[in-house]
Amino acid sequence: MDRSNEAPDGGARARTGAQPSSTGRRAFLKTGLKTGLGVAGAAVAGGMAGRAGATPMTAGAEADPATLPPNVPWWNQYLGDGVAAHPYGSPSPYEAHVVRRNVEWLTATTESSVNFTPIQDLYGFVTPNGLCFERHHGGTAEVNPVDFRLMINGLVDTPKVFTIEDILRFPSVSRFHFLECAANTGMEWRGAQLNGVQYTHGMIHCVQYTGVPLRVILDQVGVKPNGTWLMAEGGDSAGMHRSVPIEKALDDAILAYAMNGEMLRPENGYPLRLVLPGWEGNMWVKWIRRIEVGDKPWHTREETSKYTDLLENGKARFFTWEMDAKSVITGPCPEKPVLHKGINQIKGLAWSGRGRIKEVHVSTDGGRNWMQARLADPVLPKCLTCFNAEFEWNGEEVLLQSRTVDETGYVQPTMQALQEVRGVNSIYHNNSIQTWLVNKTGEVENVRLG
Ligand code: MTE
Ligand code: CO
Repeated sequence: MDRSNEAPDGGARARTGAQPSSTGRRAFLKTGLKTGLGVAGAAVAGGMAGRAGATPMTAGAEADPATLPPNVPWWNQYLGDGVAAHPYGSPSPYEAHVVRRNVEWLTATTESSVNFTPIQDLYGFVTPNGLCFERHHGGTAEVNPVDFRLMINGLVDTPKVFTIEDILRFPSVSRFHFLECAANTGMEWRGAQLNGVQYTHGMIHCVQYTGVPLRVILDQVGVKPNGTWLMAEGGDSAGMHRSVPIEKALDDAILAYAMNGEMLRPENGYPLRLVLPGWEGNMWVKWIRRIEVGDKPWHTREETSKYTDLLENGKARFFTWEMDAKSVITGPCPEKPVLHKGINQIKGLAWSGRGRIKEVHVSTDGGRNWMQARLADPVLPKCLTCFNAEFEWNGEEVLLQSRTVDETGYVQPTMQALQEVRGVNSIYHNNSIQTWLVNKTGEVENVRLG
């Protein structure tokens, strides 16, 4: 894996001495950061090559004795930054390794590409806006909201054009939903490929969307009785199009303008995107500029040559909208080795495009025996659910797996079971059980069983 895209791991770890003044402290922060990067970089190259953010926050770093009790550390002795210093806040410099990453060989250009959410470094089920993976086929469109328009035409009584101000005047809803790219885990169909959960499972994010239910906007134009399909069109250079059945539009689809309490980020579709809870990310058209109502699907590029699954018999599955139930352990994982013998925590994420997660089971012996994991509240429909469980590590090799069951009773399959039905030609919709091998040193590897 090419590592040139990786943000330096570790941030400022090696710090020494009390700081004489706030300016001195800042100057030190700068050099401290540089030194820290060098030290962390060397550590990564030595032990964990090819893994994103491979070490925990403090691993390998020596604490500065001058800062430890009963001493009063330097940050306790000087005034800190004032309230005007950070009009828009950002994470601690010690968290500089928690970033989106991309894999250079996956796509030819960064404009038509993808980066990955660092799920191994996140807590709870909400993804911070700046860490939501991005997938765009023609780069981020820079839309000035003043010039933004959404046009609705086709089989409607009154075609209309809406400004963003118009959209903001309708009654809003706020809901938490995951968005998973259909290609998430797509590189893993034929064998274990990428050694990091960020890369194998990081084409997912989960935020609280605020917007207007699509049905409210459709009421404004009056869908004709034969209007059974919508075509959603993006306003970026890729001009993405997807056909959406009217039932979904009238059920839980949202035209969202905000994520996690603030307006959408440009890369996620500012100022307006389509949210189709539980359905494949490709259909969540960003920078949406037009909705056409019709009486049949359009069979656009994104639902024929792409986002279809070629089966062994030469036929292809298409319109595979719902994301099947899936789970993954996000610690331990290749980026988070097991550091202690004795009791360790397993943590992970589970989700289903069909509703709520009912159960998660974890195995430490490659799926022979399973135990029930705890689900963390809240367990919301079509939303990430966190789970955790204990496991005791005595320094032996362990094969960690998780398996989820959703409220429809659907059980996450093994890769063998999935391949029996789907063959080996697919890229999209790989929701199979992931195996992590914890080896005797505590390092963790992506492996395929059987
Ligand atoms: N919408 C437009 N207009 N252009 C795009 O390239 N990419 C799609 C979808 N909507 C895309 C788009 C794909 S493949 C995915 S997975 C999601 O947006 C990614 O959303 P995100 O960038 O907010 O993570
Ligand atoms: Co996608």
